[in-house]
Amino acid sequence: MAIREIIKPDNPTLRKKAHKVTDFGKDFQTLVDDMVETMLDAPGVGLAAPQVAMTKRLIVVRLPDDEESQQEYGTQAGVLYAVANPEIIKASKEMVEGVEACLSIPGYFGRVDRHESVVVKGLDRHGKPLRVKAKGWLARVFQHEIDHLDGRLYIDIASEVWDARRDEEDESAESVPEAKLSE
Ligand code: NI
Repeated sequence: MAIREIIKPDNPTLRKKAHKVTDFGKDFQTLVDDMVETMLDAPGVGLAAPQVAMTKRLIVVRLPDDEESQQEYGTQAGVLYAVANPEIIKASKEMVEGVEACLSIPGYFGRVDRHESVVVKGLDRHGKPLRVKAKGWLARVFQHEIDHLDGRLYIDIASEVWDARRDEEDESAESVPEAKLSE
């Protein structure tokens, strides 16, 4: 396993539409392992293959598994999701506003509206069909990562984007715990 470089918006690959995964062989397995390692090292709660300069439809997601997260996200806290060719097949009408950050855009936060819950269909790392029902923060992370596969960044749809240094002087930042980890 290896930690890969996370590219920034100055690299045009981040804006490309990623291709479907069709080969689940050795190189793909290495990519999954490397993306997991890169996400955990960052640390972040999600990573999409274009962020490591691979134009493949692959995302990895993992919410923290500390006690607080377990209370809030139950059995989904700490679960590692690796999903190839993910598609949102159901989305709640209800939208929720929340704060996001992105490992490709360090030092910034943004306020983004997302569906409160989604159902994601895709393939696991071995090419077997998989379905994930996600609510709240997990649903937000899936939406953020799937956007990456079409070259879309949260800053494209955010109602507000700000420099993280602003929050260091602002105690109200404590009210946005999601912002502690990037996607
Ligand atoms: Ni991101």
